[in-house]
Amino acid sequence: MSVEFERQKLELALKAGRNWDNFPFSLHIFDSVASTNQTLWNLLAQGAKPWSVVIARQQTAGRGQWGRQWISPTGGLYLSIAIAPKLEASASYQLTLASAWGIADQLRCCGVVVGIKWPNDLVLNGRKLGGILTETKINNGYISQAVIGVGINWINPVPETGINLEMWQASYATKPISCLEILTSTVLRGIESGMECLAQEGITILLSRYLELLSNLGDKVYINDLAGTVVGVTSQGKLRVSLEYYDTTDIKTPELYIEPGTISLGYRKSSV
Ligand code: BTN
Repeated sequence: MSVEFERQKLELALKAGRNWDNFPFSLHIFDSVASTNQTLWNLLAQGAKPWSVVIARQQTAGRGQWGRQWISPTGGLYLSIAIAPKLEASASYQLTLASAWGIADQLRCCGVVVGIKWPNDLVLNGRKLGGILTETKINNGYISQAVIGVGINWINPVPETGINLEMWQASYATKPISCLEILTSTVLRGIESGMECLAQEGITILLSRYLELLSNLGDKVYINDLAGTVVGVTSQGKLRVSLEYYDTTDIKTPELYIEPGTISLGYRKSSV
């Protein structure tokens, strides 16, 4: 499937409704790269600045979370953006939480009712629409550079548990997202607003907004054969699970904090 990417259309969409004195984004658009995250790291090593963006029509070695592969044929959105947050290394996961919330929120403003599946999945109708991969460089305990990579299914084929925006918009006479450039601009605005929320309002407010869009709250999960309920996410991105177990005297509900990547939550329809 062939999709052209028009730089001018993207620039117009990014500038719409805003008075930039200096347009912050430096856009690098490619036909094919191994991974937009890797290409951006290479550009950063050559002196590229924060808010540099790499976009590719396809990736030949797209990277997913936890060392997985991200299959990236043409028709999908593959982008990476560089940022320089003032954050301690231990708070790295906040960049993923902020991006997930910001992107979902911006898409919802366009009428696409995206939710979040912990920790980094964007979901639509209970299926995976996209994912986020944040990579960081740490210096003296602080993040010196970060690359946020986003993959979103636009018109590319998807597996059983996935959905693309084309499928979802099929029944709409006027499509909320009319082209790949508008989707790209919406995602970039989402990352920008997520970072702004984190920097200006802080992790507590950001987390409360993230939780409003989280589809997993109340899910029943099993940890080492013990039943528990998802009750939230910590400021470091861990899943909060309230475990219910009985001892001889009374019922106790201790809380467990689960590291991202150590359990997988299923896809399902949800109300957010
Ligand atoms: C996930 O596993 O859900 C995260 C997937 C992130 C994929 C994107 S596509 C653009 C960027 N470049 C990469 O190599 N990966 C991210």
